[in-house]
Amino acid sequence: MHNKVGSNVKILTPCSIDSDLSDIKKPELKVVGTFGRTFRQNFLLNEKYLILNHGSFGTTPKYVEEYVEYYSRCSEYNIDKWMDQTIRPMIYNSLERIAPYMGVQDSTQLTYVQNSTTAVSTALRGLSFEAGDVIFKFNTTYNACSNAVKYICDTTKAELFDITLNFPMTDEEIINATTDAINKVKQDSSKRVRFALIDAIISVPGIVLPYHEITAEFKKVGALVFIDAAHSLGMIDLNIDSLGCDYFVTNAHKWFYSKRGCAIFYVANKNKTSTHPLVISHSYAPECEFGESFLWQGTIDFSTYLSSNAAIDFIEAVGGLKSIQSYCRNLVHQATELYQNKYNFIPLTNEKSQIANFVNMIIPNLEYGNPKHDKIGYELKNTILTRHNASGVFYPHNGHWNIRLSAQIFVDLDDFDNYGKIIVETIKQELNELS
Ligand SMILES: Cc1ncc(COP(=O)(O)O)c(C=O)c1O
Repeated sequence: MHNKVGSNVKILTPCSIDSDLSDIKKPELKVVGTFGRTFRQNFLLNEKYLILNHGSFGTTPKYVEEYVEYYSRCSEYNIDKWMDQTIRPMIYNSLERIAPYMGVQDSTQLTYVQNSTTAVSTALRGLSFEAGDVIFKFNTTYNACSNAVKYICDTTKAELFDITLNFPMTDEEIINATTDAINKVKQDSSKRVRFALIDAIISVPGIVLPYHEITAEFKKVGALVFIDAAHSLGMIDLNIDSLGCDYFVTNAHKWFYSKRGCAIFYVANKNKTSTHPLVISHSYAPECEFGESFLWQGTIDFSTYLSSNAAIDFIEAVGGLKSIQSYCRNLVHQATELYQNKYNFIPLTNEKSQIANFVNMIIPNLEYGNPKHDKIGYELKNTILTRHNASGVFYPHNGHWNIRLSAQIFVDLDDFDNYGKIIVETIKQELNELS
């Protein structure tokens, strides 16, 4: 990372801009317990809810929720001052604070959007595609983002190339699959490798891709590269400046503890003037800055975006991202061994570089392609959520049913063990009922 995280950015507070706001009580940051089950006290989770699916929607600490409420109160105190005088410096300052976590020196390349899906559509719908333009994605691309690409291919002359990844695969095999695909398209002189949508961390399987190397392959042939890093901020270290991509989005509401509806969209300086928000508002003008045009897309409550400030405070107070990542990696390692040895599940990958905060295992006694088993597999998340108030993600991949479970600082190995027992018992019950 460029700057030492949190080091040299002066932090603005609402009161430093509008002193009247000192009348409103700021939340206090008190962290209780140590990482593991007792750390749940810092979140609003129902005690009876076993959550191993943090990855899908994120989980917000109490302190961040209190901060959102605080910002909301500040806005209601004097909405004119808040909207016309306070919001802008606060937003830009918060992006400056978050930039070192993204490995970005020039924070004017960053803006908030509500989520990663929005950024993918924003970039794609802002470009014009011509006959012969090829858009690359992977069979593992998140469904919503795949649909955004399909929409472009349905409504313009662009065509789609889907690169197939079937795990387990080594990083080298993934990069080779990418170069093979690029070369195939390049052989046809009527085609242009125009745009690539690359995950940093795939949704399912929850695997870290060698996205720096994949980006380099696409940049060699002059393509525009969009990195969908929905899961990345907080989960892995980021260095966008060294990546050389054109667009990059990461949710702050998944692994960075911000309020849901807070994502950071990076648009490289050279792409700023050609990138417009999906909603065109007051700031549409040739001379209008990228930051302003994205900031104001009509009236919204900015508390959600500003929650990244409280999220950074929380992260720093609990020991920083390094200690969070280290706890989660260790737990993933232990849980993978537990599932392998106790429940006979099979790890989907053993490649260290591909593993971060997700456990990915093949379920041994559920066959993909068997209609009865598929019925069980597609329903399993809801069956377990309804019967046991416990959550994980079940998905088919490469001819098998698999699970994706999320480590977090508020779960421990017993949680994984309990969930393992539940999966095995539920599948047994379901198979008995269907036989
Ligand atoms: C790889 C990937 N991209 C995009 C998304 C979409 O995120 P959001 O719903 O916040 O837009 C997800 C969600 O899990 C994802 O895993």
